[in-house]
Amino acid sequence: MTTPDPETGALFTPTEMVDEVATFFLAGHETSASALAWALYLLARSPEWQDRLAAEPEVRDFSRLRDIPAARAVFRETLRLYPPVAMTVRTTTRPETLRDRKAPKGAQLVLSPWHLHRHERLWEQPDAFDPARWETENGKTCQREAFTPFSAGPRACPGAGFAMIEGPLILSALVRAYRIEQGTAEPVPVMRLTLRGKDGISLRLTPRIRA
Ligand code: HEM
Repeated sequence: MTTPDPETGALFTPTEMVDEVATFFLAGHETSASALAWALYLLARSPEWQDRLAAEPEVRDFSRLRDIPAARAVFRETLRLYPPVAMTVRTTTRPETLRDRKAPKGAQLVLSPWHLHRHERLWEQPDAFDPARWETENGKTCQREAFTPFSAGPRACPGAGFAMIEGPLILSALVRAYRIEQGTAEPVPVMRLTLRGKDGISLRLTPRIRA
């Protein structure tokens, strides 16, 4: 509120600042919370991957992220299966033809990472939780061409780099501290600004005892 816009010289009004903070809460907090909740759910169903994460070293330093490859692969696989922003809307700036369908200028297009990330013609075993896929040829190609959890283009997520650091770090810390099991009910994904469980995501956490 004290730094003038370099082009216009304008300062943020209190209302604009409240909007900015609200956007960052939703965009930066709800999304990461959604991804972490689904990641824990997937790990509750995959004791093997959970043990692999728990066996990775404790990492506090951003530059040591390479020491926790399993946490990174699981976080990425979670963004594929349960993209927190499961759909976005874009408006065409000119007439387009998409697979023989015409979209006039000004049409609203719904882009759905949920569908793209589970596309049977693109991904091998699209519905399977397989964090090892990112090391395969198909996984690498699809990561480049069919993986858009942060959208793309000029209005893509500016927090993507940060999210891919904090996500694996927090996931790693949680799984090192707690054994995660499924709770009472199976979560039903619903899109409410971010992708959530209809009645939450029920999990049971037990502290891990370390020597
Ligand atoms: C796993 C975590 C995250 C996911 C999946 C995610 C995903 C997205 C997506 C898909 C968009 C584009 C939405 C649209 O155009 O309709 C977006 C925008 C945005 N994200 Fe993220 N995001 C995440 C974390 C973060 C973090 C940590 C921050 C900030 C530190 C952040 C800040 C923003 C902001 C400010 C926008 C609006 C950008 C604009 O409209 O120009 N996001 N995010």
